[in-house]
Amino acid sequence: MEEELIGIKNTALSFILEAEDLQSLEDTKLQFLGRSGKLTLAIKEITKIPLEKRPAVGILANEVKKTIEEALLQQEKLLSKKKNENILKKIDVTNPGVKPTLGHLHLVTQALEEISTIFESIGFSKEKYPEIDWDYYAFSALNFPKDHPARDDWETFFIKGEEDKKMGKILLSPHTSTGQVREIEKGKLPIRMLNIAKCYRRQSDVSHTPMFHQFEGLVVDKNISITHLKGTLDYFVKSYFGDKRKSRIRPYHFQFTEPSFEVDVTCGVCLGKGCRLCKAGWLEMGGAGMVHPNVLKAGGLDPKIYTGFAFGWGVERVLMMKAGLEIDDLRLLYSNKLEFLSQF
Ligand code: DAH
Repeated sequence: MEEELIGIKNTALSFILEAEDLQSLEDTKLQFLGRSGKLTLAIKEITKIPLEKRPAVGILANEVKKTIEEALLQQEKLLSKKKNENILKKIDVTNPGVKPTLGHLHLVTQALEEISTIFESIGFSKEKYPEIDWDYYAFSALNFPKDHPARDDWETFFIKGEEDKKMGKILLSPHTSTGQVREIEKGKLPIRMLNIAKCYRRQSDVSHTPMFHQFEGLVVDKNISITHLKGTLDYFVKSYFGDKRKSRIRPYHFQFTEPSFEVDVTCGVCLGKGCRLCKAGWLEMGGAGMVHPNVLKAGGLDPKIYTGFAFGWGVERVLMMKAGLEIDDLRLLYSNKLEFLSQF
């Protein structure tokens, strides 16, 4: 029996030393110390030997077990250490890291923020008005006659439903001018508001998207004149497009301003000399004018005491003009194509 135990110890120890990984060490452990392991079975046999011999064999068996357990523990530590070292060897810390992809604000959002900051720096405060509004605020209160073509179903998105006697139909706001009479009605003077918002029109082609953005300025107080309007335009043009760009106003017609103007900005490529992009040196930016007396009246103000100016331009348009971007299809802006958007 003693010899058998010594034999088991020796084989176990050599198996343990030969184990090359943790799994084969675990197998060896089971082979000797498991429920039907060699040592376990041998220990069970002790009951069969004569009584007087049992204590000595018992002590030996315990020693053998302890020796095997200690050897297992030692080897396990050694193999775990080796395993960790191998993992570290596989990581080449000199490799360049994987860069996380960084997102950024949409091109149009960037423009909205920039434009807002420019006007806020000269005392305009940003106001919000309904995106779904009455015909009254979009047209009637702005001095549009009943049969004006902008009211055509093919220009404006009207919402089906009942018509209000005074307010008319409900529509998706086709321009930011919808905020003008809503602002004047608040009765808080002086007014220096900026409305920068989504607008909707039935247009979809290379230079139009059915949803687009405009920014509208409205200033109303006593003694407001065209010079205030021109000064504000110049300030915006220089801040947004750069010091070298100039603005000019040209007579035009809008229902809600009198006099009305179209605002032009010198071309960013030739700075006004004339080139292939602009032809005559100027690029058209949008409308402006002195608030029509009927509009002031609609908002509850006396046009003999108060005057004002207003302007309204397309955000996507000024963005294209600034960047000198020649996007051949404006609809790309809203296509959510990352190949396009990530360039900016
Ligand atoms: N609402 C006009 C449009 O969408 C633009 C406009 C013109 C706004 C003249 C104004 C203005 O405030 O004074 O075409």
